[in-house]
Amino acid sequence: FTVVIDDANVGKGTYPFFMLKEIDEQPVVMRRLVEKYTDGHGNVVLPEALLAALKQADRLYIVAAGTSYHAGLVGKPLFETLAGVPTEVDLASEFGYHIPLLSKHPFFIFLSQSGETADIRQVLVKIKALGHPTLTITNVGSSTLAREADYCLELHAGPEIAVASTKAYTGQIGLEALVAQGLGIAKGNQKAAEFDAAHQLGLAAAGQQALIDQKDRLHEIATDMFKTTRNAFYIGRGTDYYASLEAALKLKEISYVQAEGFAAGELKHGTISLIEKDTPVVAYISDPVTAAHTRSNADEIAARGGKVLRIASASQATDEDQLVVNDIDPLVSPLLTIIPGQLLGYYTSVDRGYDVDKPRNLAKSVTVE
Ligand code: G6P
Repeated sequence: FTVVIDDANVGKGTYPFFMLKEIDEQPVVMRRLVEKYTDGHGNVVLPEALLAALKQADRLYIVAAGTSYHAGLVGKPLFETLAGVPTEVDLASEFGYHIPLLSKHPFFIFLSQSGETADIRQVLVKIKALGHPTLTITNVGSSTLAREADYCLELHAGPEIAVASTKAYTGQIGLEALVAQGLGIAKGNQKAAEFDAAHQLGLAAAGQQALIDQKDRLHEIATDMFKTTRNAFYIGRGTDYYASLEAALKLKEISYVQAEGFAAGELKHGTISLIEKDTPVVAYISDPVTAAHTRSNADEIAARGGKVLRIASASQATDEDQLVVNDIDPLVSPLLTIIPGQLLGYYTSVDRGYDVDKPRNLAKSVTVE
């Protein structure tokens, strides 16, 4: 069964909401990125001028908002590990008020699904005035940010209609992995030679499909965990923490549940005081390096009466884990771990009878600062 993205004629088809359709399209988006940005033999292909400019950079600045900011966070370890370039990730709405001390050769990457977010544009305008090179990564090639930056790479994810972003998030992470690897190879970085982005995106597509196929189960879990709750927490370390932030955002955006993502190691420094009997907590345990510590955090929460859902990767899973995701390089693990996060948010919204695609007070693209 293959989902085909029909760009020309965007309808919901048999789906009740665009969001569910867009969640289902993610494996196709992964494969499409490989098709667009590699030569078919696993080699990343990027425009030469872009690669040359990126090679000059002594520091990357990723600037974004909302879900795109969460995808940007995943970019930091990707670019630092694979390309060996220090990388800073900033919220566009904050960056403009205090431009940090920039390195000698900064390079700016703007991540924006719509390419129209005003908070990002005001940063782009300031950075262009300073004469620094800029790249927009967007799903809309004809957008303002695409036109105004020096370089543009498209996600090719097909139109994203639901306000809550899903396939653009995984598309952005997939494309960051490709660009980081391409840059690392161009710089002769050994870590990039060992990482195979095309292969990882292939694993991601298969792993996403395996999770999407468990929709009904995720609906049951969502009903049990979140149907009546007023708050919820997501915890993890490293890329599991970044997935926690995005999973929490999905729940709050469309279900109006106060949900927070926390770095699991910070629990003991404050947050654990919020845990009461039956407080829902989702623990991401996918990275072999941090799994043991996060698992013990999950146990502490359970011991205090919290209702814990453990989501583990296959290599780290034990019998107590309710949901297992396939193994994948931890640098790109949110490509998989976010799928249950998206589906839990979606079904909670459905259970509560909300208009999933058009949550109150939110707009798909925000063109005011
Ligand atoms: C709005 C949307 C969010 C989105 C954010 C950034 O607030 O509701 O879903 O993540 O803008 O949008 P962008 O198009 O720049 O990625």
